[in-house]
Amino acid sequence: MRVGAIVAAAGSGERFGRPGGKQLAPLAGATVLEHTVRAVAASERVEGVVVVANLDHVDAIAGLLAGEPKVVSVVAGGATRQESVARALDALPPEVEVVVVHDGARPLVTPELLEAVLVELDESVDAVIVGYPCFDTVKSVGPDGLVVRTEDRGRLWLVQTPQAFWARALRAAFERAQCSGVTATDDAAVVEADGGRVRVVRGPRDNIKITVPEDLAIAEAVLQVRGLARGGGAR
Ligand code: C5P
Repeated sequence: MRVGAIVAAAGSGERFGRPGGKQLAPLAGATVLEHTVRAVAASERVEGVVVVANLDHVDAIAGLLAGEPKVVSVVAGGATRQESVARALDALPPEVEVVVVHDGARPLVTPELLEAVLVELDESVDAVIVGYPCFDTVKSVGPDGLVVRTEDRGRLWLVQTPQAFWARALRAAFERAQCSGVTATDDAAVVEADGGRVRVVRGPRDNIKITVPEDLAIAEAVLQVRGLARGGGAR
């Protein structure tokens, strides 16, 4: 199967509070986004990568990734993640059969994790996503700060990216979502709203999304441990 990847990196980074946002923050000798793109491109199955960047950073990011041979284009994103991914879908070559979407802000992804998702994508499902069971107790809290109810955590999973889709299912779901006004915070939810079948495979808890500055220290530590485990320095 022909696999194309989308790296969604067009967020405003408001919660991060740094000019240039979290994608361009330094991490272990490179930027967050370089780690992410290199890890995605290191998957042998991925033929090309489309990166979606904030309009203000398209040129800077295109320059940063100029040496990455698998990056086919850097396109400007939209106001929402869904809009950004829709634009990247338009930029992917039509012959792509499988689309892997990954958050630019998850630099700890590995080619092995991409493989774990891709290997589970068969004709019985429309998508395969990665996540892990919720170990903490989850409560719904009202705007007044009072607990409304305690959720049944036995049924809850926290999901991440990478998320792999049959391209035709993802494209169809995005088109119908645009007509019907469906909005979602991950791409699998767009496919779910379209009646699609989504399988979840268990992934590692360290595939964190850099959201606030303290997350960088966690990411640095994980990369260092991985480097030591391989008997070398951090990646
Ligand atoms: O907002 P959230 O943390 O869920 O964003 C997840 C990923 O989606 C981030 O890597 C962010 O850069 C990307 N994103 C995007 N376009 C937007 C908003 C978020 O590509 N408009």
